[in-house]
Amino acid sequence: MIRKCLFPAAGYGTRFLPATKSMPKEMLPIVNKPLIQYGVEEALAAGLTQIGFVTGRGKRALEDHFDTNYEFEHQITGSSQEALLSGIRALIEQCSFSDTRQTEMKGLGHAILTGEPLIGNEPFAVVLSDDLCMNNGSGVLSQMVQLFKQFRCSIVAIQEVPEDETHKYGVIRGESLSNGVYRVDEMVEKPDPKDAPSNLAIIGRYILTPDIFDILRVTKPGANGEIQITDALNEQSKAGQVLAYRFKGRRFDCGSIEGFVTATDYVYRLTMRWGKTILKLRSPIMSRSQILQ
Ligand code: G1P
Repeated sequence: MIRKCLFPAAGYGTRFLPATKSMPKEMLPIVNKPLIQYGVEEALAAGLTQIGFVTGRGKRALEDHFDTNYEFEHQITGSSQEALLSGIRALIEQCSFSDTRQTEMKGLGHAILTGEPLIGNEPFAVVLSDDLCMNNGSGVLSQMVQLFKQFRCSIVAIQEVPEDETHKYGVIRGESLSNGVYRVDEMVEKPDPKDAPSNLAIIGRYILTPDIFDILRVTKPGANGEIQITDALNEQSKAGQVLAYRFKGRRFDCGSIEGFVTATDYVYRLTMRWGKTILKLRSPIMSRSQILQ
């Protein structure tokens, strides 16, 4: 089944300068946990234990985060703060991490193609960690893995967006099958509202079948002059091989300051609520490890 999850993480995060001048944007914390860790936790919860990062210059902190820091760990061992590390330690124990570098920034499709050596010839997931997704039940990737078991084709997660925001997303046209699942007929990257085939926008969660690599190899630059995963998926959709899934849960665009602040507020409140209600709730809506560690 699906074992691997790719995290394109070469982008600069210029919207967060100067914070991202020497720190990867994926390491920006939502409360006390970096964005990338939320993504890896979501992948592990979906059973994906082989994590691949497509990085670039200045991204070493990502590798270090998913490695042991002996000196630091030695210092806090036995202290009350040690519990704060249990979440990341569990990820390090249960997942393997590898990375490859994207030396030229030629778009998301190019980043995914750069990750091919980490994936090989098997279906895999892609997480854009800027898109923080939360759900009371199964995470978005878990929901998509379930769907893949049934349909065995590429799947993109979608949500409805305001019609004047289609230019920020890949947008699909599809036939509704059932329960938020669509068979995609066409997809367009960042269309003007007047050209958008719908207001169903792709968010940063994908399951891709490995034939996508051959398609990406011959995909010409599209929107913004970049090689777009949306254009490669559009080729697959012509053969009826792409589903769009309106996921259960909430997504925060943490690539924007506004989305980042909203997500921070949301997670903080969730943490507080958890703290106050822990004695009353038999099963809290999110585990403490999901929220805090
Ligand atoms: C990328 C994809 C786009 C998708 C979006 C979701 O765009 O190219 O299709 O809708 O992620 O966040 P980006 O935000 O990298 O410009």
